[in-house]
Amino acid sequence: MKKNKSVCVIGQGKLGGVLAQSLRRAGYSVTVVKRGENKKIPRIKTADAVIIATQDQEIQKAARDLARRGGIRKGRIVLHCSGALTSSVLDVVRNKGAHAASLHPLQTFPSLRQGISALSGTHWFFEGDKAAQSFCKKIVRDLKGKFLIIKPQHKAAYHAAVCLACNYQTTLIVAAEEIGRKIGFQGKDFRAALAPILRATLANTLQMGAKALTGPVRRGDKATVTGHIRALKSLGKRDLAALYGALAAYTKAHIVKGDNKP
Ligand SMILES: NC(=O)c1ccc[n+]([C@@H]2O[C@H](COP(=O)([O-])OP(=O)(O)OC[C@H]3O[C@@H](n4cnc5c(N)ncnc54)[C@H](OP(=O)(O)O)[C@@H]3O)[C@@H](O)[C@H]2O)c1
Repeated sequence: MKKNKSVCVIGQGKLGGVLAQSLRRAGYSVTVVKRGENKKIPRIKTADAVIIATQDQEIQKAARDLARRGGIRKGRIVLHCSGALTSSVLDVVRNKGAHAASLHPLQTFPSLRQGISALSGTHWFFEGDKAAQSFCKKIVRDLKGKFLIIKPQHKAAYHAAVCLACNYQTTLIVAAEEIGRKIGFQGKDFRAALAPILRATLANTLQMGAKALTGPVRRGDKATVTGHIRALKSLGKRDLAALYGALAAYTKAHIVKGDNKP
């Protein structure tokens, strides 16, 4: 497949901006279409592929608009980058003869600069029409990523796993910071104190999996765990005490004693 493919990116948000710039650097001809830019429809029509990089809840609508305005021709590749949704939200363009796919970059793009520097080495999960596969593979290769295939029925579970490991890691760290504040530390000072142990824990877990677990549950120290829950309740953090209890119980059942035990 020759280089200089033309791609139309619908939506200039966090991911759309990163993709547009990175694909240009990789030699693609890229047109970005912001909301309401109907005058760009002729350019959408002639592009080899359309990437719908809108918010998840806007993807189906954007695809419908594209189909209604004549932006779809037979054999065109149309994809979105949602982690949770499958390519079925693009059925409206499939019905017009396009090849549809979802291609999710397993990475976080909080800003253009951070996103661009984080893109290389990203794993991309593909699901969709066979005819869209080689184009998606090429994009991933050109962006220096790794291409993986996922079954559509597994996307929700896949995305839940990603949220568990990434989003809720943020939740847990922010909750720890809040406890730090409750006991008299500045949030950012407590976060700075946590930084070395957090980095070490992440590095160990990525390297060793369940074997990286240390702490009271790992040591079978029930009294300490009970004391933690009591302390959280006495700080007025009943929700957090319940969450802590659930995490401790899961850790005991599934990591210390269960299938994942070190
Ligand atoms: N950011 C990440 O870390 C990340 C990671 C992996 C995958 N993704 C996926 O990437 C997609 C985009 O996420 P994001 O974080 O980049 O969202 P975002 O920053 O909110 O950007 C979405 C952009 O799409 C625009 N838009 C919405 N409907 C449109 C339409 N019909 N025509 C043209 N533009 C339209 C929005 O404009 P308005 O502001 O006017 O609404 C906004 O600029 C989602 O499917 C998400 O699941 C994101």
